[in-house]
Formats: sequence, structure tokens, C-alpha cells
Amino acid sequence: MCGIVGYIGNRDAYPIIMNGLKRLEYRGYDSAGIALYDGETIQLCKTKGKVVDLEASVEKEISKTGKLGIGHTRWATHGIPNDINSHPHFSNSGDLVIIHNGIIENYATIKKELINRGYIFNSDTDTEVLVNLIEDVKKKENVKLGKAVQIALNQVVGAYAIAIFDKKKPDEIIVAKLGSPLAIGIGDDEFFVASDASPFIEFTNNAIYLEDEEMAIIRKDRDIEIRKIKDDSIVAPYVQELQLNLEQIEKGGYDHFMLKEIFEQPSVIKDTYRGRLLADKGIIKLGGLEDYIEKFTNADRIIIVACGTSWHAGLVAEYIFEDWARIPVEVEYASEFRYRNPVITEKDVVIAISQSGETADTLAAIKLAKEKGAFVYGICNVVGSTISRATHSGTYTHAGPEIGVASTKAFTTQITVLTMIALKLARIKGTISQSDYMLHLRELDLIPENVAKALKKNKEIEEIAAVFKDATNFLYLGRGYNFPVALEGALKLKEISYIHAEGYPAAEMKHGPIALIDEQMPIVVIAVNSNHYEKVVSNIQEIKSRKGKIIAVVTEGDTVVREMADYIMEVPNTPETLSPLVTTIPLQLLSYHIALMLDRNVDQPRNLAKAVTVE
Ligand code: AGP
Ligand code: GLU
Repeated sequence: MCGIVGYIGNRDAYPIIMNGLKRLEYRGYDSAGIALYDGETIQLCKTKGKVVDLEASVEKEISKTGKLGIGHTRWATHGIPNDINSHPHFSNSGDLVIIHNGIIENYATIKKELINRGYIFNSDTDTEVLVNLIEDVKKKENVKLGKAVQIALNQVVGAYAIAIFDKKKPDEIIVAKLGSPLAIGIGDDEFFVASDASPFIEFTNNAIYLEDEEMAIIRKDRDIEIRKIKDDSIVAPYVQELQLNLEQIEKGGYDHFMLKEIFEQPSVIKDTYRGRLLADKGIIKLGGLEDYIEKFTNADRIIIVACGTSWHAGLVAEYIFEDWARIPVEVEYASEFRYRNPVITEKDVVIAISQSGETADTLAAIKLAKEKGAFVYGICNVVGSTISRATHSGTYTHAGPEIGVASTKAFTTQITVLTMIALKLARIKGTISQSDYMLHLRELDLIPENVAKALKKNKEIEEIAAVFKDATNFLYLGRGYNFPVALEGALKLKEISYIHAEGYPAAEMKHGPIALIDEQMPIVVIAVNSNHYEKVVSNIQEIKSRKGKIIAVVTEGDTVVREMADYIMEVPNTPETLSPLVTTIPLQLLSYHIALMLDRNVDQPRNLAKAVTVE
């Protein structure tokens, strides 16, 4: 959690780090800090709040000089968000300065020992313990900073991406990684360090992504030296060419990243299946799948592990895989799966879904499944992310960077990939008819157009939002393929508007939630054309009898629900199996507008972070 940025070279570090922090702020935003070094003094400025608050403090407190610097935007794990707990942290001597993303789990024991040896701590963070441990090792063993970092890291348990420098070495930054991500941008005589490549994309297309348990010694005007933390062996640097461009990480005229990302869905869904779906020819080609197809077709079952929105995409996949490919599917919260001694065998296929490719719980679930011999397939958005590398094979969603903390385009593109996999398996297994298969290929190809049509209702949805913005509770109901969409709609609303919302299978309502319904209660019901349409209509009647306010998502041209509902949000007709790709659109827009009307920070809702790299 949190974003780190560092620079060493011949330019002023300040603007590079500040812009970088703004781009990484989605990762954590409860406090921020920067340390700049001009070769003589280290200037430190840090504050509770956002990167803009840091910018204002810098203006008042420090000069912006220095060709070396590090910056941090925090999502607190140890110690409340305040000025003192913000990073960077100095060591006791004032020589070493560190930024850290992650958690040092055994910090308490180390801290006690260091206190006994006379160290003083100003903050409550685990990070300050780490920087002092490094200092202690450096002094005790009389070694250089790189060696001290290595020895210290071999004593800690936890996760980290760190950048650290020494006042006595103005030409060097040391970085290291375990669990949290770390990219190094390579320019001419200059280097960039960051949690992802966005802070340096306008300066270089060449980057090294450190692997777990690797550290790098970065020296200005010199080559990078990468070593294994465990045994000090040298690792040959693998320089990748980045595909990211600046436009992708900017708002492009939209007020918020979330709105931009909602509106990008027609094009990114197309990007997801571009070159992979040849609807007219009846072909689905997924590079990562071709070599492992038998793993899937011979699997006893598929276990899907994920968290949050990605877990909801997994639930949609459960319906599609079972329906078409006739393979039993279990969908698990990664956080539960990893701790409950699950029964997994070599005949299981595990699919891990993650936008960021960094979610700690999902990663741990993958490791467990691999240990038990399962084949693990990843569906990630971030290219080169930890999860994409930890899995045996996989498919990227190609949704482009998702910066709004509330996941939108990641969800629809994940479903697009899962749909293609299910269709391909069904075709190979012969569990879907040729005509049904061809129909779904063609319908999938029409989804971008249909999503674009659903987006055209934005204004009407905004008006509905204005009516319900002051509600304190919402219920979301859906059946079958649209039950996960109800869960996702409720999650979107609560995370960005802070209104309490619950998603339920529509038929479950009568087993409890119905008690909540009164004339104040808005209930969003997904009532599009489906095998369960009549049943959903009955559920709507039950709500009406209790005077609940009904906002229904209906298929264009619907007349029955239109009569019964208080408000309707229309979406184009699609087969039920593909309907989540369109029914989710009005729910995303509804939560966006409500949050905006309540003056919430839509892109960076409180307490959340984009990539949850802690348990
Ligand atoms: C979605 O809006 C959330 N912010 C969150 O639930 C997210 O989907 C979850 O943390 C999983 O993230 P991942 O897809 O990057 O693994
Ligand atoms: N554990 C550190 C802290 O609480 C770093 C958290 C982060 O990754 O932002 O300060």
C-alpha cells in the first residue's frame, strides 16, 4: 500500500518526485513526504494529508534543491496518519533516509532490542525501526550501506519495497523488494525508482522490475547492480520496454479518473478481445491458454480466488463456466482460502483474478495453491505485476491503467476475458452447441456498442442520483448472472459515497432483508430480460407492497417493470449470459453521481487504497 518515488541524476529531483507522487497517490493518500539532497543538506518535508498538502508545506518549509530525492504517499499500517509517522524516516544519526511500502511484521522485537541499545524512536512506524536496524548493522559490522541493507533485510519478516540513501553517499540510492512492487526507470545517466512506471513514463521507456528478494544498488553515472538479498548472488538486469503512455494516466478532460474509466469501457472491452476474438470465424485465441487447455478440460473443478470487485467478476464466471463448460466452479475470497487449509489437488485449476496484480491475499492464495500442486492461471490488468509473474500462465485484461480506487473497467474487462475462456472451453468440450457458440461470439463483439448505448443514459441516471443522494441505506437485488452485479453495485456505492448498501440475490430478500424495507428505502433491482424475469417481477411486487422505492435496471423497451418501478435505468438487450457487462454500467454511474453530489472524493475514497498489498 502506498506509493514510493525516487530520483538520482542531473535534473532537479523535486518536480519529478512531486508529479510522481500525484500519479501514485491512488495507492495511498493519508500522508505524504519528500526528502531532497543537494550533496550537503537533506531537506525533509512531510505532512498528514494529500500530496497537494505536501506541496503547500514544501513551499513554506524547504528549498526545492537537490538532484537526489525520495518521496512517499502513505496508507498507514503502523501508527496513525500524522506528520511524524509520515515517510521519509531518518535514522538516529541523521545519515540514512528511507521510504517504505509494506509491513515489517517483527518490528516490535527489533524495536525493543534497538531501544535497549540506545536508539530513540520518534514515530510509531515499523519503517523507522527498519532504517535504524540498517544503521545499527552498518555501524556494528562496519559495512557499506548496500551490505547493511542486505544483512538487515535478512533479519526482517514481512513485505517491503524500500528506497534508502546515505548522506555520506550523494551518488547512490539502494532499493529492495519483497512482496511490494518496485520499478526502476533507466535514463541516460539518471535513474528513477517507483512503485509503478507512471512517475517516469515521460522520461524513459526502459524499466527493470525487481523480483522478490532482490535489491539494487543504483549509482549515478554507473550501471545498476542487482543482487539477491538472501545469498548476495548477482542477477543480470532484465530491461523491459514499457507500453504505457502519458495520455493513459491522465484524466483526458473528465472530472475524475473514475468517470473517465467508466466511459472508457467500450474501447477497453474491445482492446481486451482485440486479436483474440474472431467472431465471424468462430475463433477465440488466448495466448496464455493454448498450451494449457488440457489442464482446464481435464480439471475436476476450477477454484477462483480474488478479492473485492475481482471476486465479483469471479462470481459471474462461476455462472458462465458451469453453464457452458460444465466444469464445477468454486469462488473463494482469497483471504479466507489462504487460511482455511483448503482441499486442493493437482486436478484443480485455480484462476486468480486481480486488477493490480499485487493484492497480498490473492498472492498468498496463489502460493498456497501452487504448493499443493494446482495449476494456477492469472487474470491481471497490470502487465508485469507480481501476480502475473507468480502464476503458471494467464491472460491480461488490457484495460489500461485503472487509477480511480473504485474499480470499474477492470470488472468488465475481467468478465470479458472469463467469458472468452469459458466459451473456448465449452467449444472444445462440446458442451455448447455450435449455434449458441457463434451467437455468443457475435454478441460479445457487440458489447462495446451496447455499453456505449448504456452510457448514453448518464444524464437520466444523474437525475435519479439527485433523488436518492440523501438515503442512508440501499439494497441491490439481482438473480442468476446479475446477482454478482447487485453485489458489485452495492460495493461501488458504499466505497465512494459511504452510504450503507447491501447486495442480495433477489429471492433471498424474503429471508431477512425485507424487514428493512419501508418508504424511505431505495432498492435497485436488476430486472433485465432473463430466464428469471418473471421471478424478479414478483420480487418487485413484494417490495412495492412494503412501499420500498424501486430503481430498476431494465432492458430497452421493457413495459412491465417500467409500470411498477419508481425509476428505471435502461440498458440494451443482450443474452442473459453477457448481461452483467451492460447492467453494471448504470450502477457505476449511479454511485459516481451520488458520491459527487455528496461531495465525496470519488477517486480517492477515505480509508481505501488501490492496491492492497497488506493482509
Ligand atoms: C474495488 O472497487 C475495490 N477498490 C477493491 O474491492 C478491489 O477490487 C480489491 O481490492 C481487489 O483488487 P485487485 O483486483 O487489484 O486484486
Ligand atoms: N508500514 C509503513 C507505515 O505504516 C508503510 C505503510 C505503507 O505501505 O504506506 O508507515
